[in-house]
Amino acid sequence: MSSRYDAVIIGGGVIGCFLAYQLTKRGKKVALVEQGELASGASGAAAGMLAADCEHFEHPELKSMARLSRDAFPSVIRELRQLSGIDAGLNERGFLVPARDAQEAEELHAGMLADCSGEWWRPEKLQTAEPALCKALHGAVYRAEETQLLPARLTEALAYSAQSKGAELLLQTKAAEIREINGSVQGVMTSRGLLECEQAVLAGGWQMDQLLQPLGLTLPLEPVKGEIVEVHSESPLLTSTLYARNVYIVPKPGNKLWLGATSYSGDRSSGVRADSVYKLLSAGSEYIPEIRSSQFIRAWSGHRPKTPDGLPYLGGFSGIHGLYAAAGHYRNGVLMSAVSSSILANVMEGIATPGVNLEPFSPDRYQRQREGEMVL
Ligand code: FAD
Ligand code: GLY
Repeated sequence: MSSRYDAVIIGGGVIGCFLAYQLTKRGKKVALVEQGELASGASGAAAGMLAADCEHFEHPELKSMARLSRDAFPSVIRELRQLSGIDAGLNERGFLVPARDAQEAEELHAGMLADCSGEWWRPEKLQTAEPALCKALHGAVYRAEETQLLPARLTEALAYSAQSKGAELLLQTKAAEIREINGSVQGVMTSRGLLECEQAVLAGGWQMDQLLQPLGLTLPLEPVKGEIVEVHSESPLLTSTLYARNVYIVPKPGNKLWLGATSYSGDRSSGVRADSVYKLLSAGSEYIPEIRSSQFIRAWSGHRPKTPDGLPYLGGFSGIHGLYAAAGHYRNGVLMSAVSSSILANVMEGIATPGVNLEPFSPDRYQRQREGEMVL
């Protein structure tokens, strides 16, 4: 373990690992600190959808960033496969947003026209393309550009690719304190000792406030628990991802389907509730009846890191030179990881990203609000 780095990144999820990869590619000396294993937080629990058009975003800028990010993945994944030997399992068969009745069909069709994205598939076309889907569906919007992958594999591929370019991966290592002198970062104290650095990045999911409190800073984040069920069938039941209003069904290699996801705000518990498994399987089998006779493999949970306004924290803290945040990507951290890490790597090098206004994503925004309230 060397003792001086250009940057220490706290968090071995998809955001921290993508940033480690971006910075090492730019020639920086980087250490990545993870308290458990790679992808042991939300990144290992995610469905891996890169759903820039299907998901809802709280800010128009995020939508265009999400599309850029999604479209960067095919080449990133090729690059990572070459460097790490790990294949993140990109599925490019598109997404289907199904209509259960005539009213849903009308709404989806109108939304598709307003959005200028997607293609309307009539019930006959839907049945030909996906014969296991329920015959009573009233059609679907097909979005060819949407993709999905294996998020834990992506995270590992990023970390080991960064390592192949010189990054140090410090697993089972907890960051305990940010060291600063006169408002400038000096290092990160960890369970393995002090890592001296000029820049430190908070990319630890929803648990970053503890590190900031001693510095008098705040980064409010709430966990939103989500659960997913995996089933296996003898033959494939779905090729495209089905993104319905009450459930999504994501086909994975080896004839597996992931059915997700529940959403419980503020729930810090681990494990999976029996009624969540029941609800997800019931909702999924409304669309694919054969799910009832498929084999239950496993179910898991994770915590989406949500900010109060739903926008991520991306950028530097004005109060402490060299301290940055890349956190709070809520439902779309895997999707946003390519663009967010590239933007933050630019910020850390003092480069503006053309066409991107980072003000709404400032990690200082709640600090300013809190200080404003204290003055009043
Ligand atoms: P995390 O993956 O949580 O990583 C943070 C890491 O930091 C953890 O490994 C943790 O152990 C470590 N850490 C924390 N504190 C410290 C410390 N003090 N020292 C050292 N290490 C520390 N997003 C999508 O884009 N598409 C999807 O389809 C999708 N589906 C989802 C489904 C579910 C059920 C859930 C729960 C989430 C889903 N998400 C999805 C959201 C996505 O998982 C998150 O937005 C993303 O993984 C956040 O990544 P992260 O790196 O910020 O956090
Ligand atoms: N983006 C899917 C989820 O968070 O469940």
